[in-house]
Amino acid sequence: MQMSDQRSFVPDPDNGRLLRDAFGRFATGVTVVTAASDDGCVAITANSFSSVSMEPPLVLWSPALASARYPAFARAEHFAIHVLAADQASLAWEVARNRDALQGLSANAEGVPVLDRCLARFDCSRFALHEAGDHAIVIGRVLRASIGEGEPLAFFGGRQASIRVN
Ligand SMILES: Cc1cc2nc3c(=O)[nH]c(=O)nc-3n(C[C@H](O)[C@H](O)[C@H](O)COP(=O)(O)O)c2cc1C
Repeated sequence: MQMSDQRSFVPDPDNGRLLRDAFGRFATGVTVVTAASDDGCVAITANSFSSVSMEPPLVLWSPALASARYPAFARAEHFAIHVLAADQASLAWEVARNRDALQGLSANAEGVPVLDRCLARFDCSRFALHEAGDHAIVIGRVLRASIGEGEPLAFFGGRQASIRVN
């Protein structure tokens, strides 16, 4: 692609759609983050996950401050991040719609409700939380990790996608 094909813009409140589209060009996996709350399991679908550090083992994800779920996640000392497989797309959409979608799960050693099937799971304690604009960056220290098998669920341009593993 030629640079001249690129549309460039300076982000401002009037072209938020373009910035969202540009962010959406970064293909990601999809995770579900869970935590225990006063109302049972609170869950959120998040594609903002990233690994951060090997020593100590750290990961991050980024909740929107405006999310009704944010206070519960900001309070949570422990949480679990589940990397979803391709056949878990309906779970991702259901959790995105409904914070209470995952009740009755078994709990890990820290009392966090966890899914028993996913591509990878990171059981975390909260290491740091930084507000950054209209989102926060939650950094988790990985206390325990598990690995499953399967094809990854992917997200691109605001839509469910698939990744061909070569
Ligand atoms: C694929 C996908 C990825 C998402 N990633 C994030 C994310 O990283 N951070 C976030 O705050 N919300 C993310 N969301 C939105 C939340 O899952 C959820 O829909 C939103 O928090 C709903 O608003 P509420 O929390 O006010 O109920 C994502 C949704 C989808 C479908």
